[in-house]
Amino acid sequence: MTLFQLVKITLDELYKEAVQLYGVKVDDEIKSRFLYLTTSYTQLSSTTRAPIDYKDPAIRFAYVYKYTASHGDYVVQLLAILAQALGGKIFQSDVGRVSCIGGGPGSDVIAVVKYLADSAGKEAVNKLMVYLLDKEQAWADSWSELNMKLSSSTVQLHTAFQQMDVLNPDWTSQRKFLEADVFTLSYFVSEVYALDGSGVVTQFWQRLFKEAKSGAIFLYDDNGSDTFNNYFDYQWKTAGLQLLSQESNVRWYPRSSEQKSELAFYTAKFNAIPKVQSTLSYRILRKP
Ligand SMILES: C[S@@+](CC[C@H](N)C(=O)[O-])C[C@H]1O[C@@H](n2cnc3c(N)ncnc32)[C@H](O)[C@@H]1O
Repeated sequence: MTLFQLVKITLDELYKEAVQLYGVKVDDEIKSRFLYLTTSYTQLSSTTRAPIDYKDPAIRFAYVYKYTASHGDYVVQLLAILAQALGGKIFQSDVGRVSCIGGGPGSDVIAVVKYLADSAGKEAVNKLMVYLLDKEQAWADSWSELNMKLSSSTVQLHTAFQQMDVLNPDWTSQRKFLEADVFTLSYFVSEVYALDGSGVVTQFWQRLFKEAKSGAIFLYDDNGSDTFNNYFDYQWKTAGLQLLSQESNVRWYPRSSEQKSELAFYTAKFNAIPKVQSTLSYRILRKP
């Protein structure tokens, strides 16, 4: 299955949820949420902005429709770059553990599953444990159907959604996700960058980097902007992580196997197209 096909499954579930809340007004509500998200994402570096609220199913539909497949595809491409940097494979045993910070919308988990499917014969993983850590509990429902569909005959997938707000230092009671081989930070740094005025998010990064195991990999990818790049570079350099690969502010496209036409039904309905290309920055890092 392509990422766009997987996203279509989640969208159908989210649309039903939005219909329950908004009835016949649902399409107009969703259309207005496209605008809400686009406007919010132009203000990410503003320290006076309100945090983006993903609770509303119309917002979650708009997010998944517009961003999940392309963000997932970018992560698949970074995992392939990582595997090459590590000599051919990422995971060292038959059990793989991945923690997706800000991973509620499912972009990161579908990416890891897709990477493993594409790497059959190279990676020995037959059990994949994925922790999805996100402030917004409502995301937990959005992809529960996907969980079953993502398990394949070669890789058994176990996912755990854990509510975690990185602005709340109580997150330290959650420990299991720190055992991950790979941490994904896909379009998450820009989301919390402007909320770090008190240093609470910096504390989160430093604690995360300190408590992850030796050899753990961190994949950062985000909007290509030196504001976010410089902020995140400061965080990982302070923690002494090693840089395996990086690009800054480059034009980035999904692989040609990904066809946004899979979502044609919703494209016609909302007269809006899913994001495809971006200006992207990434860092692939390893804890010594
Ligand atoms: C732009 S989305 C990125 C989602 C996904 N990783 C992707 O690449 O498509 C940002 C995510 O961060 C979550 N988030 C926002 N603030 C957060 C916080 N303070 N703590 C944890 N998660 C947060 C949101 O709920 C949302 O799922």
